[in-house]
This record gives sequence, C-alpha cells and structure tokens, in this order.
Amino acid sequence: MNWTYLNDIFIPKEEVRISPFDRGFLFGDGVYEVIPVYESKAFHLEDHISRLERSLKQTGINKPKVWNDIPQIINELIKKNVFPNQVVYLQVTRGEDVVRSHIPDPSISPTLFLNSWELSINPYRLNPDKPGLDVKILEDPRWERCDVKATTLLSNVIALREANIEGRDGVIFCIKGKVTEGAASNVFAVFGNSVLTTPESNQILSGITRKHVLSLLGSKGIETLEQDLSVKNLYEADEVWMTSSTQEIQPVRKIDDKELSAKSPKDSLWFDLLSSYLV
Ligand code: PDD
Repeated sequence: MNWTYLNDIFIPKEEVRISPFDRGFLFGDGVYEVIPVYESKAFHLEDHISRLERSLKQTGINKPKVWNDIPQIINELIKKNVFPNQVVYLQVTRGEDVVRSHIPDPSISPTLFLNSWELSINPYRLNPDKPGLDVKILEDPRWERCDVKATTLLSNVIALREANIEGRDGVIFCIKGKVTEGAASNVFAVFGNSVLTTPESNQILSGITRKHVLSLLGSKGIETLEQDLSVKNLYEADEVWMTSSTQEIQPVRKIDDKELSAKSPKDSLWFDLLSSYLV
C-alpha cells in the first residue's frame, strides 16, 4: 500500500481527497518541496525545510500547525512506504476558502500534503556512457519570482511538454541571451578548470542540489564561479550539466542543434562528482 499524509493523518493513496475550494486547486496558491531519500534517510532535509520556510514567508502562507513535526512526519512516511530510495513530495497550500476570491481570508488554515514514491536511479549512474541530454534553449516565459518554490508551474509544464513532443529531454531557459535555469533544474557549465553556474536571484530557484554540487566542487579544490552565463558561452563549454533533487547531476550532449565536445565519462567532471555525490 502507498501512504500519503494530509493535514494531520496518514491516509492510503486511494483514499486521500482535498476540496476543490482549496486555493491550491483554484489558484495554484501553494508552495512545495521535493526531497530525495537514500537508504531511508532524507538527503539535506534541513536545507529543504529552510527553503520551505522561506517560500511560506515569501507568499504569506501560514505555517501548518504541525510545522515542528514535519521532519518526524517525513520519516514516518518513508518508513510506511518502505522503498529505501524515495522521492518525498511535500506541498503546503494556503488552504480551503469558502468562496473563490483572489484576496485570501487570513483566517484559513493551510493544507499540508505529503506523498512519496520510489526514486528512479539516475540513468547516468547505471550507464555513464548513455548519451547526454538533448535540450533546447527557450526565452524564459516565467514570472519574476522564480526564487519561490511555488506550485504554479504552468509555464514549466508547457515548456517541457513541447520539448518532449519535439523528442528532446529538457529545456534551458534564458533571458535576453543569459541562461537562467532548466524547467526543473539548475544549470552548470565547465570551462577549463572552472565551473560556472548562474548566481542566485529572483530569476532562478536556489537548488539544494546546486548548493550540494558547489560544496562538492569546493571540497575537491575546484574553482566555482557564480556568475552570468551567456547562451553563446554555453555552446562552447567543455561540459554542461543539469542538477536537481531527482536528477542529481546529468550531462548535456546537445543544445539546440549544437553538439557539445564529446568526452568520455572517465575524463568528465560530472562523472567524478556523481561518484562522490552521496559520500
Ligand atoms: N524541481 N529549478 C527549478 C525550476 C526546479 O523546479 C528545480 C527542482 C530546481 C532544482 O532544485 P533542487 O536541487 O532543490 O531539486 C531548480 C523539483 C525536483 C521538481 O519540481 O520536481
């Protein structure tokens, strides 16, 4: 049986229900986290909880009343859903309103929903020789608050759906020739001995994986630069990677119609990082 958690109880997946008057349903008025679990332990849980706290503050959504118990609820859910490696999805919406109104009733209580499923192994762990991702560059269609991990993801969904129909693996957004991030990931590029990634701002989500990868690079003594990255530079990079909690690190092979320089995994930094990703 697969378990979920809604507000203050664990409920089997088949039985869980929310009201259509929930503002998450009506307005996409909610925030979320996606937390990977390895060997039954949530990875960088504190960072995910801090980011969730930030998202709640930025949107003025109240903290769920079980706020302090969230780590315990996550651990209980992991136990109930058994798989050693899981993806925990956690969403907080502003809650259920009596009538649909853009201006929320300040007295409503937030809805807290969690579920989890088995984490698929990063395909580049299973087969490092698998061809890298084929992505397209797209002018960033999103709003000005991409730093908030909001459930309002229609632009991301449309971009990924269209890329998928074109037979591509993903999208890299840019604003006037400058890379922001992927539709569900951050972007890194290697130039010689340095690794560059877009700086934190309201145009990107501050990925927990991004932070982890920057720290891994630091511990290996590799120079990291958080600075603007042009699309033109990206085409000339030695390596380009996409990072996220579910993807970990994945290499890019093709951007638009440009093939990146072909390197074997053993000569590539992404492969080295993936080997030490969990240690
Ligand atoms: N998304 N940027 C965007 C727009 C994202 O949606 C994500 C992750 C990231 C990477 O963040 P992190 O390293 O903390 O996972 C960057 C998750 C996985 C999702 O929406 O499913």
